[in-house]
Formats: sequence, C-alpha cells, structure tokens
Amino acid sequence: MFLSTSSSFLLATILVALTLKQTNAQLSASFYATTCPNVSSIVINVIQQALQSDPRIGASLTRLHFHDCFVDGCDGSLLLDSTASIQSEKNAGPNTNSTRGFNVVDNIKTAVESSCPGVVSCADILALAAESSVSLAGGPSWNVLLGRRDSLTANQAGANTSIPSPFESLSNITAKFAAVGLNTNDLVALSGAHTFGRAQCRLFSNRLYNFSGTGNPDSTLSTSYLATLQQTCPQNGAGFNVANLDPTTPNGFDNNYYTNLQNNQGLLQSDQELFSTSGASTISIVNTFSGDQTAFFQAFVQSMINMGNISPLTGSNGEIRADCKKVNGS
Ligand code: HEM
Ligand SMILES: *[C@@H]1O[C@H](CO)[C@@H](O)[C@H](O)[C@H]1NC(C)=O
Ligand SMILES: *[C@@H]1O[C@H](CO)[C@@H](O)[C@H](O)[C@H]1NC(C)=O
Ligand SMILES: *[C@@H]1O[C@H](CO)[C@@H](O)[C@H](O)[C@H]1NC(C)=O
Ligand SMILES: *[C@@H]1O[C@H](CO)[C@@H](O)[C@H](O)[C@H]1NC(C)=O
Ligand SMILES: *[C@@H]1O[C@H](CO)[C@@H](O)[C@H](O)[C@H]1NC(C)=O
Repeated sequence: MFLSTSSSFLLATILVALTLKQTNAQLSASFYATTCPNVSSIVINVIQQALQSDPRIGASLTRLHFHDCFVDGCDGSLLLDSTASIQSEKNAGPNTNSTRGFNVVDNIKTAVESSCPGVVSCADILALAAESSVSLAGGPSWNVLLGRRDSLTANQAGANTSIPSPFESLSNITAKFAAVGLNTNDLVALSGAHTFGRAQCRLFSNRLYNFSGTGNPDSTLSTSYLATLQQTCPQNGAGFNVANLDPTTPNGFDNNYYTNLQNNQGLLQSDQELFSTSGASTISIVNTFSGDQTAFFQAFVQSMINMGNISPLTGSNGEIRADCKKVNGS
C-alpha cells in the first residue's frame, strides 16, 4: 500500500486521536468481574448496615464521590489523612466539619479487602457507594464504570478552589462544572442529589435574616419555608444545626428537589439559583425534571457516569491503596 506524506500524517493523527480517546475510556463495568465479582454486594451490605443507625449516611457517601471527583479527578485523594507530606483535602474549606462517612468507607474497604485483597481501589469504592446509596434510597440503579486507581497525593488547595460553594453565583458554579468537563445539564441533574441529606445552618442562614446586606431575607425563599428554617436556625449561633435539603421527602431519592425549587423551597442559595436566576438556561431543565421523574433519573445516571469519568488514574498510574486513609508503605 502506498501513502503520500500527507495521508501518512493524517493516519498517524487519527491513530493518536484514537489512542487518546481510549485512555479516557478505560473504565469498564466488568473491571472486577473475575478479580472481585462480589464487590457490589459487599458495598451494599455495609451501607445497608450503616443506614440502620444513620439514615443520612447514603447522602453523605454520595457527596464524597462528588468531592473526590472535582479535585484532580476521581482518584480517592479526598480520603487521605494529613501527614508530613500530605495536606489532607478533609481540612479544605468545603470539607472541614462538613463531609462525613469516612468511617463507613473504611468499613467497606475492610470488607472488600477480606474478600479480594489488594484489588479494588478506594476511588472505585466511592463510585460504587454513591450508586448503592442512591438506589437504596429509591433512586435509579446503574452499572458503575470501574477501574480507577488511587492517588499518591492530595490537593487541599485544589479542593478549596474547585468545589463549588453554596454562596456562589450560578455563573461561577457553571464555570466550576465546565472546568471539569461537565455542562449545564450535568449541573442541574447532579444538583438533584440534594433530594436527600442535610445542610448546616451556617451554609444558608445568610438567606434567613439579612441577605446580601438588604436587611431582609432572600426574596427567593418562600415565606412559610422561611419561618420553618428560622426555627431551626436562630439568628445568633446554632450554625451547626442541620436542616433537610429536601423538606418534603428528606431521606428518599426522587424529583421533589425540582418541585421545591419551583415553590421557592430550595435550601441553599446555589439550589434556588437554578430556578430563580432570571433568564438562566437551567430553568427549563428544572421544569423538565420536576414534571418527569424518569427524565430526571435517566439524566442523573448519565451525569453520574460523566462525573465518574473525570480524569481517572488507570493502568499502572497510582496504586490500589490497602488503607484508604494512607498511601501504601507510608
Ligand atoms: C452544584 C454545586 C453544589 C454545591 C454548591 C453544593 C453544596 C452543598 C452544601 C453546602 C451541602 C451541605 C454541607 C453541610 O451542611 O455540611 C451539601 C450537601 C450535600 N451535597 Fe452538595 N453541592 C453541590 C453539588 C452536589 C453534587 C454534584 C452532589 C452529588 C452528585 C451533591 C451531593 C450532596 C449531598 C448528598 C449532600 C448531603 C450530605 C449529607 O447529608 O451529609 N452536591 N452540598
Ligand atoms: C457473593 O455474594 C452473594 C450475595 O451476597 C453471596 O450469596 C455469595 O456467597 C458471595 N460469594 C462470595 C464468594 O463471597
Ligand atoms: C469545627 O467544629 C468545631 C465545633 O464543632 C469548632 O470548634 C471548629 O472551630 C470548627 N472548625 C472549623 C475549621 O470550622
Ligand atoms: C484551604 O482552606 C482552608 C480553610 O478555608 C485553609 O485553612 C487552608 O489553609 C487552605 N489550604 C490551602 C492549601 O490553600
Ligand atoms: C465569581 O468568581 C469571581 C472570579 O473568581 C469572583 O471574583 C466572584 O467573587 C465570584 N462571585 C461569587 C458570587 O461567588
Ligand atoms: C444588614 O447587613 C448590612 C451589611 O452588613 C448592615 O449594614 C445592616 O445594618 C444590616 N441590617 C439589619 C437589619 O441587620
């Protein structure tokens, strides 16, 4: 076969492009099919156990996968404790006194190690735990893509800057999603995870009394909901009290989150902005998900897969940690 220089160059370019695409598509639902076939049921069993004493734990575990993936990809970096050379992401602004469930992650890891030692990464455990938590709460189930490996480092500065804050504008939050390759549809679908779990008063009480120095509560907060929240969060102190992110079905995974937004019952400023920012492209997506739970569930699954695909370590990069809290041999 005879190829001109330019068509050889084209062929080489296509081959490089295909290889790059493949390194991005290495995760697979059957990754542990021979090495740890029972990993999913082990994860589910530990979470079911934990739910008996803590109905919030599934929400907390789901959030851990998000906070892991947004910082240098889904690589378990969130789980590392501080050492002389590691500044833990657990002590970053969005996580400190906020993320929870690390002990349950350790229990899952222990159970998985006893069946299949040295095989399943902590990053994959977070992805599996998120899926199990959502499905155990009545949400959708899906085949989790697997094969991520664990980082050797943490990035506390990255956690401070990459994870969206509840006080940010919609355009800033949209930019933080875009920075990890997620679009507006992903933003609205993934925010639907706020259909379960809790939030501390200190993360929304600025809306209840004197919003942005106006002397009044946030005008996009329903007055009856405002009165309830003021009971939970008195003006001075009590910042660590918690309210349900979804006041209608606090522990169930459903599309009520979007109906709440239509009723000015979004708990966080960042939640309500999806519906109340005038002219925003997110409004029609909220309306779609509010009217059609199946559409929400399908979009949520796709967006969880998209989030789970954020720059995983694969192949011989990183390692399979023996203990999710520390790098092997440290
Ligand atoms: C869109 C930007 C987001 C912002 C600004 C945000 C912010 C927050 C805040 C402030 C809390 C309360 C934390 C506390 O009280 O300690 C929270 C809780 C939670 N977030 Fe988000 N979040 C966002 C997106 C997401 C995403 C993408 C997911 C998962 C897919 C998620 C899942 C959760 C869950 C399940 C909880 C409840 C956790 C628990 O009860 O322990 N969030 N979020
Ligand atoms: C795998 O899980 C199933 C269901 O939980 C259980 O019946 C079976 O014994 C497990 N097999 C192994 C090898 O652990
Ligand atoms: C975390 O919470 C404790 C009280 O529960 C408080 O003493 C400490 O200052 C908080 N730390 C940060 C960084 O907010
Ligand atoms: C991240 O933010 C926390 C709390 O806001 C702060 O204590 C810490 O020094 C910051 N870390 C880095 C590396 O910027
Ligand atoms: C949005 O981001 C810009 C640039 O980082 C920052 O200056 C601004 O304070 C942010 N706005 C809000 C509301 O968070
Ligand atoms: C609201 O906050 C602004 C700015 O911090 C302050 O000047 C004003 O006095 C406050 N109003 C009330 C009613 O507390």
